[in-house]
Amino acid sequence: MSDPGFLVIYSALAVLIFATLRKAFRDPRLDAIPIVGSSGPLQSYWDGLKFLKNAPALIQAGYDQYPEGIFRVPRLFDWLVVVSGPKFVKEVGGAPENVLSFRGGVEGNLAIKQVIGRAIGENPYHQITIRTSLTRNLHACFPEVRDEIACAFEDVLQLRGSGRNQTYLRNNVQFAVDVVRSGRRIALFPYFLRPLVAPFYSNKDKSFTVAMKILGPVVQERLAKENELGPNWPGKPNDLISWLLEDAEGEERTVPALVLRVLATNFAAIHTSSMGFTHAIFDLTTHPEYLLPMREEAKRVVEKEGWTKAGLNSMVKIDSFLRESQRLNNLGHIVMNRRVVAKDGFRFSDGTFVPRGSFLCVAARPTHYDSSIHENAAEFDGFRFAKERAEHAATRDPSQDIFTRQMISTAPDHLSFGTGKHACPGRFFAATELKAMLAHVVMNYDVAAEVEGVRPPDTCFNMSVTPNATAKVRFRKRADL
Ligand code: HEM
Ligand SMILES: *[C@@H]1O[C@H](CO)[C@@H](O)[C@H](O)[C@H]1NC(C)=O
Ligand SMILES: *[C@@H]1O[C@H](CO)[C@@H](O)[C@H](O)[C@H]1NC(C)=O
Ligand SMILES: *[C@@H]1O[C@H](CO)[C@@H](O)[C@H](O)[C@H]1NC(C)=O
Repeated sequence: MSDPGFLVIYSALAVLIFATLRKAFRDPRLDAIPIVGSSGPLQSYWDGLKFLKNAPALIQAGYDQYPEGIFRVPRLFDWLVVVSGPKFVKEVGGAPENVLSFRGGVEGNLAIKQVIGRAIGENPYHQITIRTSLTRNLHACFPEVRDEIACAFEDVLQLRGSGRNQTYLRNNVQFAVDVVRSGRRIALFPYFLRPLVAPFYSNKDKSFTVAMKILGPVVQERLAKENELGPNWPGKPNDLISWLLEDAEGEERTVPALVLRVLATNFAAIHTSSMGFTHAIFDLTTHPEYLLPMREEAKRVVEKEGWTKAGLNSMVKIDSFLRESQRLNNLGHIVMNRRVVAKDGFRFSDGTFVPRGSFLCVAARPTHYDSSIHENAAEFDGFRFAKERAEHAATRDPSQDIFTRQMISTAPDHLSFGTGKHACPGRFFAATELKAMLAHVVMNYDVAAEVEGVRPPDTCFNMSVTPNATAKVRFRKRADL
């Protein structure tokens, strides 16, 4: 990488001038939305800087003041409109892409165009593949998922080498890490500068080359078979490449385009699942009293039904534990980032207007910690949702759908996977994966915190909350198996 020094300085200057102009001539149409934090131009700059550290407190303060309302907080270069309460959250979740854009929101925080590729945003067909084919095949593919989990734990805990291709696995992770690292940096620049600075920050070509070397020939063969024998050739593997090929059209049906889709799918899956699982392990080691009941449940189900996807449906305690862990450890303070792209802006049902170009989002964490929604909301109650499910099943009240307390169910007050039109299409897979992993851990290992009763502190920066990446957890293979 060449020295980007001069570019950084010039770009930083451009950014400041640009930002100053934007703030100075800020859109008066936003004036009706109350500000949390201060509003003077210099003061809001200062708040914008502090925001990187104080985001949680500011979003919480806004939520406390407007629990069913709309407010805005100052960021370095603009305002962020934050929405809370079921009514407005539903309005955000229900708005179509050409009004409140999910892709525009992602592009604002993470320059996906530059770090993954333009096509991923412009033609996100892989989301359909994930929602339909991947989800539909969870039963059929479960034996492979289960096998992969068992091997991965052996590998990671260095009990034996499983013979999986580590080059390929590491490359997927590296790609995901690079995308976030470089995407965030590039996203600090205004859009018109992004293509210029991207080459200095992005490593995507390196991981893409490795992926092409390993996956390229596989994809090539699939395309050749399909050209020769048609789309349903005998012996066609039941995997992501085949499913993508069922949905891909036109220029997406090339080797590089398909390899990139696989990487993009892995990208969507890797950070979210691994951080979620890490949080769950920290919750387990901090609350060791949950280990035995979950071990008992997993053992009973596996003895009766074997390791199957259907068996996982009977693991209600494990499901509840993960849902509770996700509730308290949402991966960010906010969720459902959107950019207003409709020409005439967006109007909420109470008349609040948000002009085109603005960013808005939902106050996820404060909602999850709201004591008017959950009893002892700030406390980890691993079987909270299992108890609620049992209670509702017992009352047979048809208005209380028991399915609403499962890990996969989203709601305006449970936003780990978002809710509405863009609710995570990978959540059925994620729930299967995480439940199978947690069941595997509790059945095979004794786990303990490094320091008894102490949950390692999260890393908070700007809007993101990440589980502590350096803390250790003790794993001991059970002797009595
Ligand atoms: C615990 C794991 C996961 C969490 C917490 C999570 C969370 C989320 C959230 C919050 C969103 C955005 C919702 C919105 O803005 O309205 C999302 C979108 C998405 N997720 Fe996940 N996710 C997880 C796992 C996965 C997996 C395993 C996959 C792929 C197999 C995946 C693929 C996607 C895709 C493609 C989108 C974009 C959806 C769209 O544009 O409509 N996610 N996820
Ligand atoms: C902070 O997060 C927001 C959105 O979540 C993003 O747009 C902004 O670029 C981030 N700022 C920094 C310095 O990372
Ligand atoms: C992984 O697969 C690639 C391509 O098939 C191969 O070149 C490489 O040697 C493999 N690595 C390992 C560690 O097996
Ligand atoms: C992570 O946890 C360790 C102790 O378990 C602690 O020393 C370290 O400061 C924590 N990291 C952060 C970023 O809080």
